[in-house]
Amino acid sequence: MQRWAVHARRAGGRIGFVPTMGYLHDGHLSLVRRARQLVGPRGRVVVSIYVNPAQFAPHEDLSRYPRDLARDLRLCRAAGADVVFTPDDAGMYPDRDTGGYSTYVVEERLTQGMEGAARPTHFRGVTTIVAKLFNLVQPDVAVFGAKDWQQAAVIRRMVRDLNYPLRVVVAPTVREPDGLAMSSRNKYLTGPLRSQAVVLWRAIQLARATVRARQRPIAAGALRQKLARLIAAQPDARLDYVEFFDPETLEPRRQVTRGTQLALAVFLGKTRLIDNARL
Ligand code: PAJ
Repeated sequence: MQRWAVHARRAGGRIGFVPTMGYLHDGHLSLVRRARQLVGPRGRVVVSIYVNPAQFAPHEDLSRYPRDLARDLRLCRAAGADVVFTPDDAGMYPDRDTGGYSTYVVEERLTQGMEGAARPTHFRGVTTIVAKLFNLVQPDVAVFGAKDWQQAAVIRRMVRDLNYPLRVVVAPTVREPDGLAMSSRNKYLTGPLRSQAVVLWRAIQLARATVRARQRPIAAGALRQKLARLIAAQPDARLDYVEFFDPETLEPRRQVTRGTQLALAVFLGKTRLIDNARL
């Protein structure tokens, strides 16, 4: 991969990069199309597909994470990718279990709350694999989804702090017709869980309507309670967190106004879903 990237850069083409864990959906593909737009017809678009074990905790869904490489390759080709990079564990983390791999990248500030609090080693895995992928793919521009708002903020910070010579672009969240944010994990939502999952989007809409109907800010605690009640009304939904924060710094907001970012995580049965939006 690195040899190809060095060669492609020498030949003068810009490299656009979309890192993924595969089982691609229209959200991922919108990033591939955006990367193509950004680098132009003579640039190169690289998609990586790698289910990164370092960002899963032992009790999480690493082993059952959905995979379908043949389908992913077809979709990448149709969306305009030039190269699909599919490394394996032995290549990315040689001898990890026996101490053969020991270097990690850690962002210490933006990773404290929300996903970082709920999944303590998650972002260390994300920043480490993305740093490695950047070194391998050597992109001029990397495209991430707003669906994982905190992840995008953490990557932006890492790129700035570690002087990666690339631009990070964040593209909008792509949703199903009923508002559910597309996610590879939606595959787990069988039977009544699928229809209940729309409660994340309904919570976002309720928060937006509440904020927009008022002249003055609303206390974060009061709005959180209101959304928690909506979510609790679904028999199989369990709220993990609702947070209100500054969209750039991720600093929590005690008073919520238009422009505040909302993020939430909800279990539907055993499946944990996240979503977020600007209010
Ligand atoms: P994955 O969950 O496969 O997501 C890959 C990229 O697709 C991320 O930038 C994510 O924000 C974006 N994405 C997912 N669902 C989306 C949607 N509905 N609309 C728009 N974009 C969406 O995020 C990861 O993988 C991993 O943490 C990774 C960055 C690849 C590191 O392993």
